[in-house]
Amino acid sequence: MDRLKNYQNQLKGLNPQEILTWAVGTFGDKVALASSFGVEDQLLTHFASKIPNFRIFTLDTGRLFQETYDSMQRSMASYNITYEIYAPDNKELEEMIATKGPNLFYDSLENRKLCCKIRKINPLQRVLSGLDAWVTGLRAGQSATRAEVEPIEWDETNQIYKVNPLFACSEEELWKKVKEEKVVYNRLHDQGFPSIGCAPCTRAVAEGEDIRSGRWWWEAPEHKECGLHNRPVK
Ligand code: ADX
Ligand code: SF4
Repeated sequence: MDRLKNYQNQLKGLNPQEILTWAVGTFGDKVALASSFGVEDQLLTHFASKIPNFRIFTLDTGRLFQETYDSMQRSMASYNITYEIYAPDNKELEEMIATKGPNLFYDSLENRKLCCKIRKINPLQRVLSGLDAWVTGLRAGQSATRAEVEPIEWDETNQIYKVNPLFACSEEELWKKVKEEKVVYNRLHDQGFPSIGCAPCTRAVAEGEDIRSGRWWWEAPEHKECGLHNRPVK
């Protein structure tokens, strides 16, 4: 894909802020940052809030931690931003809970994927259908499945570009920047939660444990993606 190669060349050597500025310069109002209020997304939000008209959306699954909602509330006040909120479809949610129960995700991989589909993937597709590119907080250091993350990629599943300004950022560099810039962040990060998703599917990890091991902890590592970021395991 010539255009992708061209974009990749344009991004060579740019820092995360410059990549965000490039994204809005290239895609205008057809690009938006996806925020789960994790520390990566908070750093990007901090930078994006300084760029006029940068769109930020969140998939409110309805099962997020209270601390995550607190981060959202604090960010709205500190950064003066209006989040675009995407919630699950009422009918799909009502039927799923009525037939499978509220805690279906613990029963089987199939049920867990169904819940992620209804609460995250379907709303995500609704947002992405109106965009040419989305920005994420993916980092190569997060897991084996993410080791090949690039600054810009073609998202085959969603048929749009995916921009990852923090692709090369290590955990140490990330936190150094967050502290330097006094970024608003989720208090759970100080309580042993390096990666934060929905409350029933995330737990704290011990020092030195894999950063994603607290996500869907009852499942095998190769299943630990909800479908937002499908990548081959290398
Ligand atoms: S997940 O696929 O396991 O849930 P993870 O929590 O690591 O993903 O987040 C990776 C990136 O996906 C985030 O930096 C963010 O860009 C996007 N993302 C994840 N969850 C959400 C959400 N609920 N709303 C918006 N974006 C999200
Ligand atoms: Fe449902 Fe858990 Fe997926 Fe959240 S992470 S959408 S609660 S299965």
